[in-house]
Amino acid sequence: MNRKCQIAGLLMISNVWLISTVLAEPAKVTIKVDQPGAQVSPMLYGLFYEEIQNAGDGGLYAEMIENRSFEAFRNGNEFSGDTYYNRVRRGLLPDLSDPANVPCWKLQTATGEASMVLDQSAPLNDKNPTSLKLRLDKGSSARLINRGFKAAGLGLAKGTYHLSLYARAAKEFTGPLSIALERPNGERIASGKIEELSGEWKKLTLDLACAIDEPAGQLVLTFENPGEVWLDMVSLFPANTFKGRPNGLRADLAQMLVDLKPAFIRFPGGCFVEGLYDLDQAWRPLRTLGDVAQRPGIPGARWGYGSTDGLGYHEMLQMCEDMQAAPLLVVNCGLSHDDASIVRGGDPNTSWGGFVQEALDAIEYANGPTSTRWGAERAKAGHPEPFGLRYIEIGNENESFPEYPLHYAGFCKAIKEKYPEMTIISNSSKVEAEIVDEHYYTSTEQCMAQYQKQYDGYDRKGPRIFVGEFAIVAPPKDAPAGTEVKMNYLEAALGEAIFWMGAERNSDVVTMIAYAPLFCRLDSKMWPTNMIYFDQNRVFGTTSYYVWKMFSNNQGTNVLPTTTTGSQEMAYRSDKLKGTHPSLYVDATRQDSTGDVIIKAVNFLTQPQEATISIEGVDKIHAASEAWVLTADSPAAENSLDKPNAVVPVKQPVSAEKPVFTWSFAPLSASVLRIKTR
Ligand code: AHR
Repeated sequence: MNRKCQIAGLLMISNVWLISTVLAEPAKVTIKVDQPGAQVSPMLYGLFYEEIQNAGDGGLYAEMIENRSFEAFRNGNEFSGDTYYNRVRRGLLPDLSDPANVPCWKLQTATGEASMVLDQSAPLNDKNPTSLKLRLDKGSSARLINRGFKAAGLGLAKGTYHLSLYARAAKEFTGPLSIALERPNGERIASGKIEELSGEWKKLTLDLACAIDEPAGQLVLTFENPGEVWLDMVSLFPANTFKGRPNGLRADLAQMLVDLKPAFIRFPGGCFVEGLYDLDQAWRPLRTLGDVAQRPGIPGARWGYGSTDGLGYHEMLQMCEDMQAAPLLVVNCGLSHDDASIVRGGDPNTSWGGFVQEALDAIEYANGPTSTRWGAERAKAGHPEPFGLRYIEIGNENESFPEYPLHYAGFCKAIKEKYPEMTIISNSSKVEAEIVDEHYYTSTEQCMAQYQKQYDGYDRKGPRIFVGEFAIVAPPKDAPAGTEVKMNYLEAALGEAIFWMGAERNSDVVTMIAYAPLFCRLDSKMWPTNMIYFDQNRVFGTTSYYVWKMFSNNQGTNVLPTTTTGSQEMAYRSDKLKGTHPSLYVDATRQDSTGDVIIKAVNFLTQPQEATISIEGVDKIHAASEAWVLTADSPAAENSLDKPNAVVPVKQPVSAEKPVFTWSFAPLSASVLRIKTR
């Protein structure tokens, strides 16, 4: 079918797009299969996981109880710089007897007198110094309630839940302790009793079987006898974690990642590894190992809430292994996010050596034989086999610090001496680097004007590029000034798509790419756009997620020279950009194992756009060829918790038989055509 077609042209008057009746020839796309170009990096499509917006605690980490360790009174950043630690240094300790300092827990007294306070007189251990002390007078009964993260409800579904807690009781408290999962109105869903309380800290466990779904469910501990009881590490996990792992991941969120077939996962930040004002708030891999009750966590971590580090270094390595993704560890380079870093306060030339040793130890933990100190720790955690860590990034966005080159060189020397097989990633192109991590947060029009061809002119002899963070964060083009982005919308995903296509086309330079941020818990949103949103029991992928899924699931082996001519030109609408840009973007690769030609395309027109596609060097196309098309009738179309499938890829057959055929690209669409040549 090679016919002239009438498609609607677009004319812009007073910032409004009008449809004009222009007779247009189909655009022309030529793909040269007989001239394969650069190899597509097999590591290209990966993920970037960061503890931001409760991505981990309250999200991917399946723990259901917020403030399980009663240490949360130290959490949060006061942006004046007066952090908890600063107050402690000045001798201003928080008032432990104030029940307002027990976030996430409520005590309801049914009869008599009962009270709760934070207590540090006989801690569970020195990493977890605070416990909850409950006191009940004779004849009183009280209910201690936790409604999960953000008090949104536990997100209960049918299945078994593992409860565990540490308790100790003063002699006169005889117990028992009743435990229940309840609906918000107090109706019991599941219950049991813990009898064995003693005067010493003891870990107690109970399984609770839940027969219904109750998103707003709550955990209730009922005390009916007089006396004093101390609690710590009150924890509730679904039995159904990802791959059934204890201390594991929320299965539905993990599956969203598995479906993207990630080649690597960069973790755990982002600014999260930097800390905000000082290095006490930075992520330190070795402090996140071992028994969760012995992990100090990071009060006042970078993104305004403390991290429990329950999803620690070991669990992240395990997640990568379970998803068949290469781990990419980001370590703090001895600099915090802000100028007030204690390192900068000290001598920057001498005081960061401990961070180099910590990076070496972290590599030993991941890869070392079990005869080494940290290899033995890994074996103790149940993983004697090495995890095969090959990528390490030194710092995050620390390029602008004058100390960075010195620190980077120090890390490189020490790592390469001991582990020459490690690939080291830098934050800066100004140091000698194997791979440089570049980050962009931009707009769709900037992608059209600049970023889609960003790497076409990069020096082929320079370092390879890792796009560790990329996303469109600006609202749709027609949105009135000041409009906030709600979720990710279709037009942004199309802008991202042409950037990803440019990266794949230049995969001899761009070796890895990732979208950022990965996860956002909806009641914790602080970043304009994110790949996956969730609440306590639901999840949805954004339009950005589905473009990524289409692309990462259809990766070729070699880039094919592709030219596109004759697509409708569109005017830029931003005042800062002059002229026009094409409305149709097409690139192609070929997959060796199948012989498939994989065409990736974006049509920015709000109308269908026909193109004559010539695949040169191929005799015949097979009937099983198919296309995946992501489209909607509005550039602002988005998915949501209530409509998770409003904009998802739809499969279509490609009925062409000859290597020259006409394809109609859907309005406002990203498409992947998988053309069978065998
Ligand atoms: O992706 C969110 C943040 O953006 C990352 O933590 C940081 O690296 C970047 O500035």
